[in-house]
Amino acid sequence: MVESTAERRRVLSGIQPSGQLHLGNYFAMMKRMIEFQAHNELFCFIVNYHALTTVQDGKTLRQGTVDAAMDFLALGLDPEQSIFWVQSDVPEVTELTWILSCVTSMGLLERCHSYKDKIARGLIPTHGLFAYPVLMAADILLYQAHLIPVGKDQKQHVEVTRDIAERFNNVFGDTFVLPEPAIDPDVAVVPGLDGQKMSKSYGNTIEIFSDEKVLRKKVMGIVTDPTPVEAPKDPDKCTVFALYRLFATPDELADLDRRYRAGGMGYAVAKEMLFEKIRTYFAPYRQRRLELAAQRDAVEQLLARGAEKARAIARPTLRKARRKTGLEYVRS
Ligand code: ADP
Ligand code: TRP
Repeated sequence: MVESTAERRRVLSGIQPSGQLHLGNYFAMMKRMIEFQAHNELFCFIVNYHALTTVQDGKTLRQGTVDAAMDFLALGLDPEQSIFWVQSDVPEVTELTWILSCVTSMGLLERCHSYKDKIARGLIPTHGLFAYPVLMAADILLYQAHLIPVGKDQKQHVEVTRDIAERFNNVFGDTFVLPEPAIDPDVAVVPGLDGQKMSKSYGNTIEIFSDEKVLRKKVMGIVTDPTPVEAPKDPDKCTVFALYRLFATPDELADLDRRYRAGGMGYAVAKEMLFEKIRTYFAPYRQRRLELAAQRDAVEQLLARGAEKARAIARPTLRKARRKTGLEYVRS
């Protein structure tokens, strides 16, 4: 997307450090954030308070946080052109979460699919898991962001954020910008190895930085239907094709589409082509990722500087909310 500088908007999104980042994260969120940075005010952060709802081991959360930051940097996020930080380095967000909680109805949260899905998968229904969307609303409203690039699964959370902001503005007077989700329909739901939505929690991911052997094994393991080699195949029903689409040029895609429909080509051939695409696409980033892994101190410093920048924007918003609600009681 190309924006003129005249319409520079605040674009904000976060990612949980709850496992290795994968193609769904990359195409729906990370790649788009990196593209947005040239023409917008970009706010990008690693949401470790959110991850604490599911990652409950200190060492794992610590390492996951730094790994996610390194992944983002390796893929092209520029900490000079954007504000890039770790959520818990700006603890003001937790105070705003409480303030917003007081205008958030239980019914609004009870309707959230993500909470219901997590409970259905056997996660313990903690208060943190239930209140997750309020923390996300605080993340967005604290920085007065306009546009929120996410995958389709997060659309409802951005809508909940709008509802909370509207409610607060009605009760206490105009305070928060109402954000909008930015969902790219071409990558709204990236399928995983089993054809369901690719997700860290479904164990069906293709990681961005997995080593070549693992990558090959995963691609070869993508579930396909039992159509025999010689028979024509429907590309629109095939996960291999759906993933190939993310990397191929229009001509390459049209060519593979023709080969599917003509018959005579087995899925293994398409898988081999997909493997090669993923491997070559991420090869240049892999080197940078290795370099960053050896510079943990520098990455930590860069995140600390990012948190300072984020805090400078967060504090005045929080002060405004404290004034409007009467929490700041001194009159001068
Ligand atoms: P996961 O489901 O793997 O835990 P997250 O919840 O951390 O992923 O998602 C981070 C971002 O990536 C969100 O914006 C989410 O919408 C997006 N995302 C994750 N998986 C997919 C997918 N399979 N297709 C499209 N977007 C996705
Ligand atoms: N809930 C988002 C997810 O699971 C992550 C997130 C937290 C987020 N805060 C955010 C996304 C603010 C966009 C804006 O993927």
